[in-house]
Amino acid sequence: MKKIILVFLLFFTLFASAQKFQNLAMTPPMGWNSWNKFQCNVSEKLIREAADELVSTGMRDAGYQFVVIDDCWQVGRDSMGFIVPDPIRFPSGIKALADYIHAKGLKFGIYSCAGTKTCAGRPGGRGHEFQDAYMYAKWGVDYLKYDWCSSNGQDQKESYKLMSSMLKEAGHPIVFSLCEWGSSKPWEWAGEVGHLWRTTGDIFDCFDCEKKYDSWSAWGVMKILDMQKDMRQYAGPGHWNDPDMLEVGNGGMTENEDRAHFSMWCMLAAPLMAGNDLKSMSPQTQAILTNADVIAVNQDVLGVQGLKYKSEDGLETWLKPLKGGDWALCFLNRSSESKMIEFDWTKNVVSDPVSNRKLDASAEVFKIKDLWTKKELGNTQKALKAEVKSHDVLMVRLSLSKK
Ligand code: GLA
Repeated sequence: MKKIILVFLLFFTLFASAQKFQNLAMTPPMGWNSWNKFQCNVSEKLIREAADELVSTGMRDAGYQFVVIDDCWQVGRDSMGFIVPDPIRFPSGIKALADYIHAKGLKFGIYSCAGTKTCAGRPGGRGHEFQDAYMYAKWGVDYLKYDWCSSNGQDQKESYKLMSSMLKEAGHPIVFSLCEWGSSKPWEWAGEVGHLWRTTGDIFDCFDCEKKYDSWSAWGVMKILDMQKDMRQYAGPGHWNDPDMLEVGNGGMTENEDRAHFSMWCMLAAPLMAGNDLKSMSPQTQAILTNADVIAVNQDVLGVQGLKYKSEDGLETWLKPLKGGDWALCFLNRSSESKMIEFDWTKNVVSDPVSNRKLDASAEVFKIKDLWTKKELGNTQKALKAEVKSHDVLMVRLSLSKK
């Protein structure tokens, strides 16, 4: 009898702990991360202020949930091997910061690395995986971004699987963000290991440039967009392709380029991690980051990554199937001149093999709404005619109106 009770208890405990990790990141994670704007210049003051600003700017209510400290919060390990946060920059400790963030109705994220050192040369997680996972659980960390620097000789799959199982073992539900820059095609294997995985090297705050460093390059948003090929079938609720964090509002792009960047990340069902200084955010940046209609495309419960349907002379047409038979359409003008579009629905019947959905606006009638100007643009019984400015988008939602 005792044995039966023990076996039952064991199964119950395993089941209860597995349950805690289910249903995380069922839509692409949204939040703010310190790296793109502040790099190593992080402190508890900065992170608290970011949390305050997420609330006061309406971003929390628009869906931005995670406040993530990226690299440089950590300075060493103690004699027992436990990670030591920077005592000067984080004098109240990480737990107090997590509590502050939680009290605002937000979630707290942190950064580490699967190698021996982080990309900024701070202590990495290698050899300390359970100790670190245990610390994160104790602090109440809800999100971990795990990088890939100083990982010579390590295997991506093994390293990330190890940390994933340690996080589960530690028992606090946590969104696990893999950041090995697409080096081992994580979309093919990481669905069970983490909730999102970077697909490329780092983003750079420009529309279409390459920023060369000694041994690597960072990429403008159009370059990153072009690298998101042949992987849409791997994205879905609980597991997302991550084309890197947002550069919206960081000054390297014009307002229309920022809008195009944000729209395309929403079409891709990409995680939306704002990376700008929220304290000095312009009204234009705030309007881009909090556009509820555009965010609704990103957060749609079907979780289908958008599809590039056409590319002609610098003008791309992207589609994303949405719940209730709706679709999002985004016309992206990558060229340096304004373009007129004329989209005839009867000539553009599209089948999407990933979602098994077909857009046939000649058989079904859809209402059309411009998600940036908020104007109703009639329905799909007439061809859609509009101007799309250079480096800008026309993004619309098609809502099924009658059969
Ligand atoms: C790598 C990551 C970046 C950032 C830095 C921190 O480059 O890809 O997103 O986390 O490390 O050092």
